[in-house]
Amino acid sequence: MSEGRFIIRGGRQLEGETVVYGSKNAATKMMVASLLTREPCVLENIPLSGETDITRELCERIGSRMSGAEGSRWEISTPEIATSVVPELSRKNRIPILALGPLLHRKGFAEVPVLGGCPIGHRPINFHLEALNRMGVRIERRAHSYYAEAEEIHGADLVFPFPSVGATESVLLTGVLAKGTTTIHNAATEPEIMNLIGMLRAMGADIRADEVRREIEIYGVERLGGVSARVMPDRNEVVSFATAALATDGDIFIRDASANGMQAFFEAVCALGGTCEVREDGVRFFGRRPYRRMTIQTAPHPGFMTDWQQPFCVLLTQAEGASIIHETVYDDRFGYVKDLCHMGANITVTDECLGGERCRFDGATYNHSARITGPTKLSGAAITVPDLRAGMAHMIAALAAEGESVISGIGHIDRGYAKLDERLRALGADIMRK
Ligand code: EPZ
Repeated sequence: MSEGRFIIRGGRQLEGETVVYGSKNAATKMMVASLLTREPCVLENIPLSGETDITRELCERIGSRMSGAEGSRWEISTPEIATSVVPELSRKNRIPILALGPLLHRKGFAEVPVLGGCPIGHRPINFHLEALNRMGVRIERRAHSYYAEAEEIHGADLVFPFPSVGATESVLLTGVLAKGTTTIHNAATEPEIMNLIGMLRAMGADIRADEVRREIEIYGVERLGGVSARVMPDRNEVVSFATAALATDGDIFIRDASANGMQAFFEAVCALGGTCEVREDGVRFFGRRPYRRMTIQTAPHPGFMTDWQQPFCVLLTQAEGASIIHETVYDDRFGYVKDLCHMGANITVTDECLGGERCRFDGATYNHSARITGPTKLSGAAITVPDLRAGMAHMIAALAAEGESVISGIGHIDRGYAKLDERLRALGADIMRK
């Protein structure tokens, strides 16, 4: 992880054009899906971020050969599984658990390291483990790993307590080669999951997905073959660049951005007083203060995504009056707020469910709602980034602030965004990496 820092001199409007890269949260899962076949898989539009780098290391340790990995078109071949015991990786993310299904199908047993990822609350994997268990997999938690084995993996009828992205992906990657039918009720239906399903279908999988009812049926097949698949544009990147433009009273065009899965964000931008102009080749975002106060509740797709609340919170510091963000996906995702307050924002967090609706954190002591009173002037500060999307909030606040900000811990940001500093500089930002 990079130990460097970003030095940002704020107050410049972002203007011009940038290109959105492929989604890291789709690409990494598609890389794992390639382990389900001995045949080569070609993945187009892979972003060269820290996260794809870590996942590449995982696949290579398992036995994958990669070509083209210096560009965005990777060919991944795993004719043999060199080992299904994946030792603890020096650089962790939340992907290893997803490799269990493919490794079990190819080897009958597997061991993967415990998960890392952003510190944004309790992040249990009980839904993954219970689902795999119901499909005939025995899993043992060891000191630093999960050991799993199965004689035969079979279909199961599964009901998730919450539409978990990762657990839905785990079951997809296991169910495609299982004996019989697996049904997921209350499945996550994020566009990144549909991207993965598209790839699996092209490999020969038989999957029916009903997004409205949150129901996915996977009819197990005997084998899967090679594929050529394209990673969808990164929705989080679009949101990050768009909010940076709006927070600086800028005007940017994001080439290759699409409206797919962005409705809730577009609606929020318009309610705030900004504009989104969807074109065939991308989306233009612009806005000028005064911005209107808003109430936002995060939710699984098609709701307002939890990954968008941090950049949007910065925008709300510039809105007139008291805005609310009610975070219903993660229990501890307001860690960045104290730094924004240090920069001049007026934000308080509470364990209450603000905004009118109660969520599953009601009655617990998690600070999962924020009240943001604006508009407030932001001033540059020295900040250490606690996690990926929080890091983006700090970046946007620094871009909008008066004076200089020094942002440390930028490895978190590099994990999710490729060449972020270069791309912001091209839009007029005064940013240096040191
Ligand atoms: C994915 O995380 C993304 N990560 C996250 O993006 C994103 O915020 C999240 O989905 C929601 O959209 C990747 O794709 C790598 P979940 P994931 O399982 O799959 C609870 C980013 O910044 N839960 O949908 O880990 C869990 O604690 C990252 O790019 C259980 O209780 O998220 C959380 O409260 C951060 N038990 C909720 O469900 C389980 O077994 C949603 O988690 C699994 C999840």
